[in-house]
Amino acid sequence: MGELQGVDILSAGQFTREQIELVLNTTAGIRRRRRDEQLKMYPGMILVTTFFEPSSRTRGSFQAAALRLGGGYIDMGSEKVSSLAKGEDFNDTIRTYDRLEPDVIVVRHPEIGSAQRAADLARSPVINAGDGTNEHPTQGLLDLYTIWSLRKKKLEGLTIALCGDLKNGRTVHSGVRFYSHFGCRLIFVSPDTLKMPTEITEGLRSEDVSVVETSNLIAAMKVADVLYMTRIQKERFDNESNYRKVSGSYILTPEMVERVNRPKMLILHPLPRIDEIARGVDDLPNAVYFEQVRCGLYLRMALLALVSGRLS
Ligand code: NCD
Repeated sequence: MGELQGVDILSAGQFTREQIELVLNTTAGIRRRRRDEQLKMYPGMILVTTFFEPSSRTRGSFQAAALRLGGGYIDMGSEKVSSLAKGEDFNDTIRTYDRLEPDVIVVRHPEIGSAQRAADLARSPVINAGDGTNEHPTQGLLDLYTIWSLRKKKLEGLTIALCGDLKNGRTVHSGVRFYSHFGCRLIFVSPDTLKMPTEITEGLRSEDVSVVETSNLIAAMKVADVLYMTRIQKERFDNESNYRKVSGSYILTPEMVERVNRPKMLILHPLPRIDEIARGVDDLPNAVYFEQVRCGLYLRMALLALVSGRLS
């Protein structure tokens, strides 16, 4: 049986280094295959996507991944078109889709722990596509894969600066747990009120990872190999006025990138972007956030193939 066959993907913390490397190498292998070969990998696979929160990339990416493996998908749709409109709850929705015997169920929901709850209810493997402010492990993996593939498959010793809403941003919560396996130096750049939660920092493998906290983005950029920008997570604030206090805290401009003069520094962002990266940055060779989207497709093809036991 394959290392990840039948396994629920709920948290970055569940992965061993060997499993991470398996995912990275499988992704690279799938990417090298011709499209017609990819389409023969899993004819008949059925993926269910249930998104109880907005999504463009993650939903599209998982659905495209299922199609590219030769399979198909069932999407729950929005609250307006699903039985949620009639008052059906989360548990019954998950149980219902699970009884269609899909190969994998992807879940995004605003509550922390919702993916675990779905996994407890479902017989099919569940992949967490974001449970509130907690985690988004497949985004963390695709970020890691993007860096790995663009830095000649070497992650050891990289300095990674993560900037923005580190308190509420689930992609960075998953990301740092992956980076910690590779002896990366982490710099957390945020306003005082949006710092990385201490339980995440304290849970990192301290023998392998060093962490520095600052609010100074330029200082971090001067030493960073990777700059990971994030959106201030407006939907997680109690009210508009608290959001306003921190919105626009960091806006990366082409002038700032020029000023630090680090031509090899990669700039990542999970997207969607609001104003934290000026549009002018998009044309710089450092900007790889749309490349991340492409990497995400292959990464999710690999994950679906591994979890459903098509590859090991
Ligand atoms: C992220 C998310 O949903 O957490 N988006 C994504 O999946 N690419 C980041 C965000 O919404 O800011």
